[in-house]
Amino acid sequence: MANSRAKRNVTQARHVAMIMDGNGRWATARGLPRLFGHKRGVETVRDTVKACPDLGVTHLTLYAFSTENWKRSADEVSGLMRLLRRYIQKEVASLVEHGVRLRFIGRRDRFTKSLRALMDMAENRTARGTKLNLTIAVDYGGRDEMIRAVQTIARRVASGELSPEQVDEDLITAHLDTADLPEPDLVIRTSGECRTSNFLLWQAAYSEYDFLNINWPDFDRAAFQASIDGFMTRDRRFGAVSK
Ligand code: IPE
Ligand code: IPE
Ligand code: MG
Repeated sequence: MANSRAKRNVTQARHVAMIMDGNGRWATARGLPRLFGHKRGVETVRDTVKACPDLGVTHLTLYAFSTENWKRSADEVSGLMRLLRRYIQKEVASLVEHGVRLRFIGRRDRFTKSLRALMDMAENRTARGTKLNLTIAVDYGGRDEMIRAVQTIARRVASGELSPEQVDEDLITAHLDTADLPEPDLVIRTSGECRTSNFLLWQAAYSEYDFLNINWPDFDRAAFQASIDGFMTRDRRFGAVSK
């Protein structure tokens, strides 16, 4: 139909953000401890990163640990921190080799000094990567990010450096952790839950969402491709009327 063709997105999903959910359920369904699901989830992260260049994705943002995930058991939290540490240690050389620039968004003040140092090292070593911008959201919450941004802006206004009228969309965007990143075109959430759970609240205002009925360890290249194909059929109007 000519009409449906006209509705096709001419643009490719360049920035894809993912809420990697369902590791615990994946493990529980197999009679395994939740941490096994997280371990398998790291494998999925590796495969997903590798798939990006073929799929035309230049920016990949992964939600790995939310500001609310500290509510989990001490065992699960320390297991997740250990996996993050191990991922960075094992992966940095390969990221450099494949031209991947790794960045982290979220708070850093609640991590150990050694993990913070490891994150800084990974960001510095991969800083020249140009093939893929990989951003991992850890101790990240959209509201927390907004609070930190508003605090910085308020300090600048209080000092007289900025007037209240200068606070606009661009200024707020520039104060978020994602200041250097484009907005996500597509947000994919696995596990069947249909909510944002505090992910990229400001940035995803006009993103397309795809909620998948599979758990994160089962997400693969075919599912990624299908999601991108689905994105291409969406009519992104941004509040206007389609032509
Ligand atoms: C996502 O999987 C990973 C994190 C939130 C760290 P979950 O651990 O939330 O898995 P489910 O949702 O309990 O199955
Ligand atoms: C969202 O998953 C956070 C991450 C995937 C890191 P959660 O499992 O924490 O979200 P809820 O509790 O189902 O909303
Ligand atoms: Mg979950």
